Amino acid sequence: MKRIEETKRPLRGELTVPGDKSIGHRAVIFTSIARGRSRIWNLSGGEDNLRTVQAFKDLGVKIWRDGEALCVEGRGWDGLSAPAKVIDCGNSGTTMRLLSGVLAGRPFVARLDGDASLRLRPMQRVIEPLGRMGAQILSRNGKGLAPLEIRGGSLQGIHYTLPIASAQVKSAILLAGLQAGGVTSVEEPQQSRDHTEIMAQAFGARLKVDGRSVALEGPQCLVARDVRVPGDLSSAAFFMAAAAAIPGSELVIREVGCNPTRSGIIDILRRMGAAIELIHSRDEAREPVADLRISGRELSGVDIGPEMAARTIDEYPVLCVAAALAQGVTTISGAKELRYKESDRIAAMTSELRKLGVRVEEREDGMKIEGRSRLQGAGVRSYGDHRIAMALAVAGLCAEGGVEIDDSACADISFPGFFDLLEGIRAS
Ligand code: S3P
Repeated sequence: MKRIEETKRPLRGELTVPGDKSIGHRAVIFTSIARGRSRIWNLSGGEDNLRTVQAFKDLGVKIWRDGEALCVEGRGWDGLSAPAKVIDCGNSGTTMRLLSGVLAGRPFVARLDGDASLRLRPMQRVIEPLGRMGAQILSRNGKGLAPLEIRGGSLQGIHYTLPIASAQVKSAILLAGLQAGGVTSVEEPQQSRDHTEIMAQAFGARLKVDGRSVALEGPQCLVARDVRVPGDLSSAAFFMAAAAAIPGSELVIREVGCNPTRSGIIDILRRMGAAIELIHSRDEAREPVADLRISGRELSGVDIGPEMAARTIDEYPVLCVAAALAQGVTTISGAKELRYKESDRIAAMTSELRKLGVRVEEREDGMKIEGRSRLQGAGVRSYGDHRIAMALAVAGLCAEGGVEIDDSACADISFPGFFDLLEGIRAS
């Protein structure tokens, strides 16, 4: 349980956010399957990334801390060995789906399980293509739900067109493709985040990227290298939206990953009227990184169409809050995937914003939100979903009487220290 009081002042200050969760998972995976010793800096201490670390320890990879760095002693694909117990992916869809791609090509049996939320998330989307490549994957009652039992083995490349853009599914297929014979290619209806492609190349993989399709010829071995994980734009998003929506705010968030396949939040907040500047733009581990300076203004409602979905997918909860605080109406469409995340994020945000006095129409693939600048205080639910908890905390800053969020500890899944950081910038 967490109380967030209404802020009496604009937000000011400078902060950094934890390492990018998506890039962190991939850093642990690639260093574990490469040959040689690598170090990872700035890996988030969030529970999801720690699940991936534990998973590779369970698979026999030597991983240890050395001061600020995480050291990984990769011994190539063959360095992975059958786990003695079920691998617990916790709440992490990325751990379960990407690991499925790794394990699909390993000659042993592994079982993957997760918490109640992960057990409800669709895994058929990886089971199907990996099965076509030659892996045998059993799911609970054959319904495509975890727990999964993966009987990996020798794989053949496939050409696969994803029905829905998904970086997790694309990555699972590419990780299997790196172990398969022949060509594997993946094409998506919309470009999803490309961290796997970027990191695979940084570890020496040969990949052909052509618009929305990626192809590689397997099998391929990877070579160890050090990785510095940039700050997580999806974590920065909560502070960006808060500062953008509270007029007079001036916030700088340092060292944030700004990969264009992820930066829908910047474009949308700008369209709503916020001033967001990227300063000191540079590259780190082939990923674009910048410091973000956000100036708060009165925001206006906008239409957020299907073309924004893949680039913005994790930021809709906090964008719903920005919309609730904007002048006029915001519509979201083409975002049905939100129903299959850590919670049904369309249903969750509809119900919780209504408790705060916002008029919201729930639609199958989105929402219509009428802004009202100041919200009513209320007790709200996170549904155990880290991004819902943090989005509601942002709402609390602008709610008369504040909000009380149940099960707020789930913020630790991606952003340990979130609430302290929020207190810090409202006090400075
Ligand atoms: C992720 C991909 C996205 C995103 C998730 C992280 C990744 O999921 O929502 O938080 O790291 O590849 P989908 O692949 O299901 O779109």
